[in-house]
Parts: sequence; structure tokens; C-alpha cells
Amino acid sequence: LAEHSNYEEIAYLLLFGKLPAKQELKDFTRKLAEQRQLPKELVKLMKIYTKTANSMDALRTSVSLLADYDTNLSDLSVEKNLERGIDLVAKFPTLVTTAYRIKHDLKLVKPKKNLSSAANFLCMLLGETPREVAVKALDTDFILHAEHGFNASTFSARVTISTLSDMYAAIASAIGTLKGPLHGGAAEEVFIMLKKIGAAENVESYAENALKKKEKIMGFGHRVYKTMDPRAVHLKAMSKKLAEDTRNFQYFSISEKLEHVVVPLLKEKRIYPNVDFYSPTVYNNLKIPEELFDAIFATSRISGWVAHVIEQLSD
Ligand code: ACO
Repeated sequence: LAEHSNYEEIAYLLLFGKLPAKQELKDFTRKLAEQRQLPKELVKLMKIYTKTANSMDALRTSVSLLADYDTNLSDLSVEKNLERGIDLVAKFPTLVTTAYRIKHDLKLVKPKKNLSSAANFLCMLLGETPREVAVKALDTDFILHAEHGFNASTFSARVTISTLSDMYAAIASAIGTLKGPLHGGAAEEVFIMLKKIGAAENVESYAENALKKKEKIMGFGHRVYKTMDPRAVHLKAMSKKLAEDTRNFQYFSISEKLEHVVVPLLKEKRIYPNVDFYSPTVYNNLKIPEELFDAIFATSRISGWVAHVIEQLSD
């Protein structure tokens, strides 16, 4: 899927439980593009609370406020929740990029109907038309992050909806859980670590010191995978490709060396790179600021969370 699909197709697969036919995909993609715009009053409010907020806190608050625009919150039917879910999948990129641009006093960029989710995200964030190679990289990243079984944030969403609460409450719970540095917050921690290491020749001493002090190497280890996370394989390849494209190898070469040094040291514990290990170097070469690393995860995972909420309610 990472190699041959696109994010819209995967979001459809998750929400409807089947791959779309050509026309279904076309209609779904158009629907997502048409629903990207945020309510004006919400943007006004965002100008207050996103000024100082962390990107995940801002996103969580925005999702809570979106509930106020839903006039029939107690309707938990599949049809209504699919409608809400599609709206959230469409609006998440706008929520994240708008909050970022408000926080940094940048002029807001309107969502573009003619772009894919990944291209529109980059365009709204950076205020420029993204290059094809960048769009392909982010689109693949979105596919890889869209869904992953019973991870911690998904479990939170399921617990919340199981009380017959509502979609927005479930998604707000999931965002709060994803934020933690042992879950989606790990990507930012990885980047902080790569910056601290600074150059490939410092990797060995850093890793040996950290492990001696019983510190965790961020981006390593997984509750389920006791081998290299299959998503990390794709992210590593993409990270290398982007490094070649931008001729910026600094963080890719530190990451690659760190993998080579740490894997043998932690082999007995079966600790290998996870999805968050190579994603920071991908994002860095896409000019995505580190404060958004976990919010990008949420921008893609929203489709998986919605699918789980609907599934939980069905039984
Ligand atoms: N670096 C060094 N040692 C580690 C690491 C690591 N990243 N992860 C686990 N270990 C060690 C532990 O210290 C422990 O050693 P011990 O037996 O000597 O006490 C052993 O491996 C088992 O550790 P657990 O915490 O029990 O492993 P678990 O599988 O329960 O934890 C987790 C998984 C939370 C992801 C953990 O590996 C970790 O904290 N990793 C770093 C944070 C990270 O990258 N999180 C992102 C995960 S992917 C995601 O959420 C999308």
C-alpha cells in the first residue's frame, strides 16, 4: 500500500472497509477537498488559544470546539459518524497548519481544492506549491501512519466512545494520548536527540553513554514488533531519497549510524527502530518544523481513529 496507493484511498479503505472503485475514490477525494475550510468563528477563537499552545494541545482544543458545530451530537449512527469522520479527516490538515501559522504570525493560507491531502498540507504550512518528490514523501508518510491496530491512542478513543460519549470526545482523548513521548511524541524526541548528537562520529559515544545510564534511545522499541518496524523500512528509504534530493545528509547519516550501533547493543532485548525513528529526518528535509511532528501523525491517524470508533460502536 505504501508503494502503490495514496492517502485518500487508504482513508476510504479504513472508513468504508473496502477499497474504493475509481469513481468512489474520485467522489471521496472531492468531498475531502471541499470540506477543508474551517468555520470562521473557530479561526477567530484559534487566534486566541493557539498563540501559546503546543500543537497537539491546540489540535485537541480545536476538535472539542468542532463538537459545538454538530447539532446532533447524540446521534451515534454509522451514517452520522461517517459524515463526522470524513469532515475530521478533511479538516485536520487545516487545523494543524492554521494553528502553526497563527502561532508564528504568518499570513493564513486558504486550503486548495485542487490538491491532494498531502500537497494541500505542505502548501498551507509552507505557503508555497510543494515539489512532487515532497508530496509523494508526505503522502507515503500519511499512509504509513494512518492506522495501526490497538495502539495506545486508538485504545483511548475506543474507551471514550464505549461510554456512548461522542466522536469528538473520543478523538480528543486519542490526541491527548498520542502526545506522550513514548507514543507519537517520540518523533520530536528523536529529532532532539539527533541534534544533540550533532554528527555521525559522535554516535558511538552517545549510544554507549545513554545505555550505560539506562536511558532509552528514542525511536527504538515497540510494544508489538520485536523486529524492525515494517513502516520504518519505508521511512528509511524515503529519508535517504530526500537526503539525496536535497543534498542534506546530516540527520540521515546520524540516524543510519545510530541504527547500526544500537541494534547490536539491544539485540538481546529485541529492540529495533520503530516508525518514529526515520520520520524526523523525512520531515526535516520537507521543511516541516519539529513542533509539528506529532500533529502530523494525528493528521494521518485521524482516519484510523474514526474507523475504530465506528467499529467499537457497532458491537
Ligand atoms: N532504548 C533502550 N532500551 C530500551 C528501549 C529503548 N528505546 N526500549 C525498551 N528498552 C529496554 C527497557 O529499558 C527494558 O530493559 P530492562 O528489561 O533491562 O528493564 C526492555 O528494553 C523492555 O522495555 P519495555 O519498556 O518493557 O518495552 P516495551 O515493549 O513495553 O515498551 C516502548 C515499548 C514504550 C515503545 C519502549 O520501547 C520505549 O519507550 N521506546 C522509546 C520511545 C519510543 O520510541 N516510542 C515510540 C513507539 S512507536 C509509537 O508509539 C508510534
